[in-house]
Parts: sequence; C-alpha cells; structure tokens
Amino acid sequence: MSKAGRLVVLVSGSGTNLQALLDASADPAYGASVVAVGADRDDIEGLARATRAGVPVFVEKLREHPDRAAWDLAIAARIAGHAPDLVVSAGFMKILGAPTLEAFPVLNTHPALLPSFPGAHGVRDALAHGAKVTGCTVMLADTGVDTGPIVAQEAVRVYAGDDEAALHERIKTVERGLLVETVGRMAREGWTVNGRTVTIGGVR
Ligand code: GRF
Repeated sequence: MSKAGRLVVLVSGSGTNLQALLDASADPAYGASVVAVGADRDDIEGLARATRAGVPVFVEKLREHPDRAAWDLAIAARIAGHAPDLVVSAGFMKILGAPTLEAFPVLNTHPALLPSFPGAHGVRDALAHGAKVTGCTVMLADTGVDTGPIVAQEAVRVYAGDDEAALHERIKTVERGLLVETVGRMAREGWTVNGRTVTIGGVR
C-alpha cells in the first residue's frame, strides 16, 4: 500500500487548488504537507502562493530544453530532489513523461467527469456538448491525456446561462474540496491500485 506524506505540487496558473492543499496541510492531523511546488513557467500566482507559504519552488520551462525528452528528464530530476511520496498535478498544463510517471505516483485533477471531456478544455467542451451535469475528477496519471485510474469524482450541475468562466469557478469550488479530501485520505489511510480500481484505506 502506498502512502502520501510528502507532496510535490505542480502548477501552471492561479494555484487555488495548491492553496487549498497548503491551507489543509497547516494542520498536522491532515497527514500530508507540500514540500515543494514546481511550474513550467514563471510569474504565476501559483508560485507566489508557494513562496508566501515558505515552500521551495522550481521552474522547468520546455523551451529551455532541446526537446521534450530532455524536459521530461529535467522535471523528473527536480521532483526527485524533494523526495515526494506523491506528486499532485493541480492545474499543471503539461503531460508528464515516463521519467516522472515511472518514479512517482502522480495525482491529477480535471474539471470534468472523466471519461467525458478530457483534455485542456474540459469545461468548454462540456458546455458546447450541452451537458446538464459535469463536475471534477481526481485520477492517477498515466501516459495518456486524462486516462488514468479514477480516484474520486463529484458532480456539478450546469445552469442555463452558464458561460465557461462561471461554470469553471463553480467546478473549482467543488474540485478544491475533493482534492483536499482525497489527498488527505490517501496520506492517512494509504491506497492500492488494482487495474483501473483505486482503493483508499481498508487494505493491508
Ligand atoms: C483546475 O480546474 C484544474 O482542474 C484545471 O485548471 C484549474 C486550475 O486551477 N486543469 P488553479 O490553478 O488550481 O486555480
């Protein structure tokens, strides 16, 4: 059974999911703490949030490497430097490659109910499809785009008149709670993966 005390969180934007994890981990009873925050770009609020919380940060930009394979190795090495039990991709807009995925469990959060609406525009795609219910998914990352085993999901209703920004904000409110709850349970109770079935706790 895996456990998740040390978290490295990866961000590309505003970092409100990261903030929720930072806030939760202020309580030692939460069972996990953010030991570093990584990004693929500078000047984002996610990095500022980490710095304000006194958490070390690192940045690996794709364009500063000769190719994707070199970036994959570099980010895996940066992550490894902080010896995480679990990597949390929280609004990180890059697919992680084998060097990271083979070394660490990676949890990903997505603003739709997978397997519907994977990819970078999950909220926009659900609206365009006319979905009446969407939501958020916390999954273990694999080499595909939002295809890994699902750990937790929660539904969010689509209202008539919703635009992408309004719907995404409502999803993110639910998503932050789900991510905090899921990571905390994984840290405190451990988890196992059997094929596509992820079980938290209750297994020895
Ligand atoms: C989240 O909805 C995440 O699922 C999506 O981008 C958003 C990131 O929000 N990929 P934040 O940076 O945590 O505020």
